[in-house]
Amino acid sequence: MRHEMSNTVKVGIVGLGRIGKNHARNLARRVRGGELIAGASPVAAEREWARTELGITKLYETMGDLLADKEVDAVWLATPTSFHADQIVAALEAGKHVFCEKPLALTLEECKRVLNAAEKQPNVTVMVGFMRRYDPAYVEAKRRLDNGDLGKLFRLHCASLDAIDTNGFFVQFAPTSGGLFLDCSIHDIDVALWMTNGAKPVSVSATGIRAMYPDLAACHDVDTATATVLFENDILATFHASRTSHHGDETSLQLVGTQSSVSLGVGGTPTSEVNVQKGNANHCAMVVDFFARFEQAFVVEAQAFIDAVRNGDTMRDRLLEARDATRIGVAMREALEQKKIVTFE
Ligand SMILES: NC(=O)c1ccc[n+]([C@@H]2O[C@H](COP(=O)([O-])OP(=O)(O)OC[C@H]3O[C@@H](n4cnc5c(N)ncnc54)[C@H](O)[C@@H]3O)[C@@H](O)[C@H]2O)c1
Repeated sequence: MRHEMSNTVKVGIVGLGRIGKNHARNLARRVRGGELIAGASPVAAEREWARTELGITKLYETMGDLLADKEVDAVWLATPTSFHADQIVAALEAGKHVFCEKPLALTLEECKRVLNAAEKQPNVTVMVGFMRRYDPAYVEAKRRLDNGDLGKLFRLHCASLDAIDTNGFFVQFAPTSGGLFLDCSIHDIDVALWMTNGAKPVSVSATGIRAMYPDLAACHDVDTATATVLFENDILATFHASRTSHHGDETSLQLVGTQSSVSLGVGGTPTSEVNVQKGNANHCAMVVDFFARFEQAFVVEAQAFIDAVRNGDTMRDRLLEARDATRIGVAMREALEQKKIVTFE
């Protein structure tokens, strides 16, 4: 049931690292009906950044202090993945609306704890940050599919390729990320669930290698991997993820149906429609990272959360889909680590 529009949603952000700063700028400057009033980070320099860059005055060292702030209506989590479940539960227990970066959690037990806590707060909005759902190209692909243009969908191919990292961030980030599938492919798994209206997975197989970052062995992660998922109704989906892209960010999707197919983002995204030819070469600058590729989608995502809170939309169906995405991501990891085909009941 929809509620009357409430007043401005007062948001407190937790985590002001790589993506937290991006979200904080959007929340402070680019959404209507919401206001970024507080931030929490254990890192003094990050709190100082929020004070000087965004003029935020309520800055806390811990999330607990931010949750105790009665003025905060909604908590925006941009913290390491291994903290997500506990922090969502704590925010729900404090009666706050919650946005949390992807993935929802790293295990099904953690997902269950979040769902139980959400059940106890039936009027509270919980949203997980799958911003591809707010990207115009993905929205158009979904529109064509729903319109029947493709006929019966039988094939999906998704790729999430990160540009080669020369400063060691991926290796540092890996131990708390859940591994390549739960960190990167989780977006594409969500896309697959969205495109297929929640098709049930039947089986998963996966293979991966460490092609460029041998240090990932310490946390059993890989930098290049592919998983194959057979969904019900004979929908075959493949998911390719890597940290080894030579052409910058590639976030792509190919859908094949009995009548037509659509694709987006294959080969990466040019930054300009102009190609430059020089020295027997054709130069086409490409988008380097997901911040640039999804700049607009992150803003629309933030607006969607604020609107959901104001409209009393708890987004429970999406929370269940986020749980289902984790289930498939966990199965991919298991298939990769144990070199076996994982089947679902
Ligand atoms: N939507 C996307 O495409 C996308 C892209 C990048 C990252 N992410 C997700 O965002 C999350 C954060 O990733 P990141 O790259 O910004 O990592 P990061 O390491 O750059 O930032 C993590 C932040 O959390 C803070 N932090 C650490 N422990 C904390 C605690 N106990 N309480 C409060 N704050 C704490 C750190 O100070 C830092 O500000 C991850 O879950 C990641 O999966 C999503």
